[in-house]
Amino acid sequence: MKKRILIIGACGQIGTELTEALRKRFGADRVVASDIREGTPEFVQNGPFELLDATDFDALEDIVFRHKIDTVYLMAAMLSAIAERFPSKAWHLNMTSLFNVLDLAKENKIKKVFWPSSIAVFGSTTPRENTPQTTIMEPSTVYGISKQTGERWCEYYHKNYGVDVRSIRYPGLISYTTEPGGGTTDYAVEIYHRALKNGNYRCFLKAGTVLPMMYMADAIRATIGIMDAKEQDIKIRSSYNLAGISFDPEEIASSIREHIPDFEITYEPDFRQAIADSWPKTIDDSDARKDWGWKHEYDLAEMTRIMLENLK
Ligand code: SER
Repeated sequence: MKKRILIIGACGQIGTELTEALRKRFGADRVVASDIREGTPEFVQNGPFELLDATDFDALEDIVFRHKIDTVYLMAAMLSAIAERFPSKAWHLNMTSLFNVLDLAKENKIKKVFWPSSIAVFGSTTPRENTPQTTIMEPSTVYGISKQTGERWCEYYHKNYGVDVRSIRYPGLISYTTEPGGGTTDYAVEIYHRALKNGNYRCFLKAGTVLPMMYMADAIRATIGIMDAKEQDIKIRSSYNLAGISFDPEEIASSIREHIPDFEITYEPDFRQAIADSWPKTIDDSDARKDWGWKHEYDLAEMTRIMLENLK
């Protein structure tokens, strides 16, 4: 049977590029994009699009039924920084949307689910260097708590109901097509926009704050890679550690100076510093490498070159 895919949160930072990649691969008519807000006219015209509030089970079921969907990518979520401002709203969105999708899979109305987790599942008691797959996890943000809880439920639905759910703990993601919204790692996107516009950037994290990051093309490849893997090769049904590059604001600034020599960075840390300080610096992703052949491609210099070139 030919695949029919639904992407929830298709207008977001990951969703936009994931939709494009999946449409290229399977054909636009097989990939239904959905979001709570209307996308840009080009986006909406590129293939089937549905307005969808992912917390509305009936609306979701209706779309799955009408479009004969078998695979769902649930990319809608409230990210770390914004979720601290709206804790109960964030919890409701992040958890209800996940249960809705898992329950459809449990009832056999869909066959396969992708759900993103995050480095935010870790907390200040987690070893921060080369953070192992299995380790202490005491997240301190609403977002992190929702992702950790989600991981437990994914594993539970797999074990008890045979749901084929697959997940990755994304690091901070960097891309030029869509601006990110409400994350702690988003400084690493903003910095490129400001470098080109103003030649300087006031960073909301301190110098020396190292975080795990990844260029979006790698993240999309990882997402499609884990979904392509044979069912028996997916040994971890909570979520896989995934690593790309790790750097601090100084290092990204100096990579920008290779192209814009006068670029200046200053620091004015805010509440997001505490969030960043509770997350790992580097990630051990050997399980993803071993189980389904993950390997990152983009380094910092290459990412900076692509970002500056495309944002110009
Ligand atoms: N990039 C996300 C955030 O900063 C982490 O998953 O919230």
